[in-house]
Amino acid sequence: MAKGEGSYVSFEDGRRMLDFSCGIGVTNLGHCHPKVSKAAADQCMNIVHAQCSIAFHGPYLRLIEKLIPIMPDPSLDSFFLWTSGSEAIEASLKMARLITGRQNIITMQGGYHGRTFGAMAVTKSKTSYSEGFFPLMPGVFTTAFPYWHQLGLPSSTSEAELVRQALYQLDLVLKQQTAPRDTAAILIEPVLGEGGYVQAPAAFLRGLREVCDKHGILLIVDEVQSGFGRTGKYFNIEYSGVRPDIMTMAKGLANGFPLSAVVSRKELTDKLKPGSMGGTYAGNAVSCAAAVAVTNAFREEKVLENVDARSKELFAALNKLKQDPEVASSIADVRGQGLMVAVEFASPLYSEHDPVLAQSAPKNLATRVAKRCMEKGLLILTTSVYEVIRFIPPLNISAEDLEKGCDIFTASVKEVVREG
Ligand SMILES: Cc1ncc(COP(=O)(O)O)c(C=O)c1O
Repeated sequence: MAKGEGSYVSFEDGRRMLDFSCGIGVTNLGHCHPKVSKAAADQCMNIVHAQCSIAFHGPYLRLIEKLIPIMPDPSLDSFFLWTSGSEAIEASLKMARLITGRQNIITMQGGYHGRTFGAMAVTKSKTSYSEGFFPLMPGVFTTAFPYWHQLGLPSSTSEAELVRQALYQLDLVLKQQTAPRDTAAILIEPVLGEGGYVQAPAAFLRGLREVCDKHGILLIVDEVQSGFGRTGKYFNIEYSGVRPDIMTMAKGLANGFPLSAVVSRKELTDKLKPGSMGGTYAGNAVSCAAAVAVTNAFREEKVLENVDARSKELFAALNKLKQDPEVASSIADVRGQGLMVAVEFASPLYSEHDPVLAQSAPKNLATRVAKRCMEKGLLILTTSVYEVIRFIPPLNISAEDLEKGCDIFTASVKEVVREG
C-alpha cells in the first residue's frame, strides 16, 4: 500500500481500492483523516515522547478527560494507556489476579485477545495462534460462547436457547474445572471478532454479570475491536447495560496511531502497586494527540449517526442477497451490529457434525469471494475458522461508497456461486 485517503487505498502498482478492512477495524474515520493527522503532526513539533513514569504529557491527560464522559458506566474512571491491544489484555489479566488474589481466568470459545504470551493463552479462535508455542500461561479455562455454530445448532436457534446453553456450560466450568474461589475473571469480547463476528446476546452478558457478582469474579470486557463506534455506540457493551469491572480498548481509539487503554474503577486500581503497570512507549504523546482529535471528530462529524444510517443500508443489501434464489442456499447467516457485520456461507468441507455442512455448496466461498472482491476493487477480509466474510468499512463512509462496495460484493458472490 502506498497511500490511504478516506475510504480508499492505493498501491505502488497504481491499483486503487475501496477499503472495507480499515487495517482490521482501526482506521474507523477513514485513512489519514485530516484533523487526526494534523493533530499528530502538530504534536510531533511539541513533544513526541515523555514516558509516563517520568511525567504525564498534556495529550495523555486531555485524552482521559475526553474518555471519561463516554465510558459505558460512570464507575469506569481509572485509566492506563498502552500501545497495543495485547498489552491492554495483559494488563487486565495481571490486574484481575492482583486485585482478587485468585489465579484462574475463564475465556470464551472463539475469543481472540492477541498474540503475546498471556493474550495468546486466552485466545481460543484458531489453533494457528498458539500452535508450536506451548506450554501456554496456566490457569486458563474455556467456556462456550452463545454462537449456534459452536454449539452445533442450526442458525435458526432462538437467542434464549443459545443463552441458556452457554450459561449452563459456564455453571459446569465453575463446578467441574475452576472453583469460583480460584477464579479471578471472566473475559469476553462482547462481539466475537476473530471468532466470526458474533454479538453476545444482552441476556448472556447480564448472566455473566450475575455470576461474577455472586462469586466476586471480575468481568473483563474486551472492546479492542468492537469499541469506538464500530457497532453504533461508543462501546458495544452499552447495548446490554452491563457494567464491566475492567475494559480494554484500542484499534479505533487513535485511528491508526498505536494506542490502547485499560480502564477500571479507582477502588480496584488503587490496589495496584506502583511500578506494576508501565512500559517505555505506553501512552505515546503523538498517539494520544491523535486520539483526542478522534474523539472531537466523532462529535463534530456525527459519526455515530452515520454508522446507524449506513448500517441499515448494508443490512438491506446483504439480506436482499440472502433472499436471492440464485445464492440463498449458500448463505447461512447475515449478522452484526452497526458497521461490524458478517456474512457466513455454507460449506461442503465442514466436519460431518457441523450444522452448516452443505454437500451441494461450493467450496471455500469466503476466501474465493474475498479474492474476487479484491479483483473488482474492494478490499475485504474473511474471519474465523468458518466461512465468514466481515464488513468493517470506515464509520464515516458515504452512502455512495457503501453501495459501491455492496454491489461489488453481490456480483462477486453470484459469480463465485455460479462457478461452483
Ligand atoms: C478483541 C481483540 N482483542 C485484542 C486484540 C489484540 O490487539 P493487538 O493486535 O493490537 O495486540 C485484538 C486484535 O485484533 C482484538 O480484536
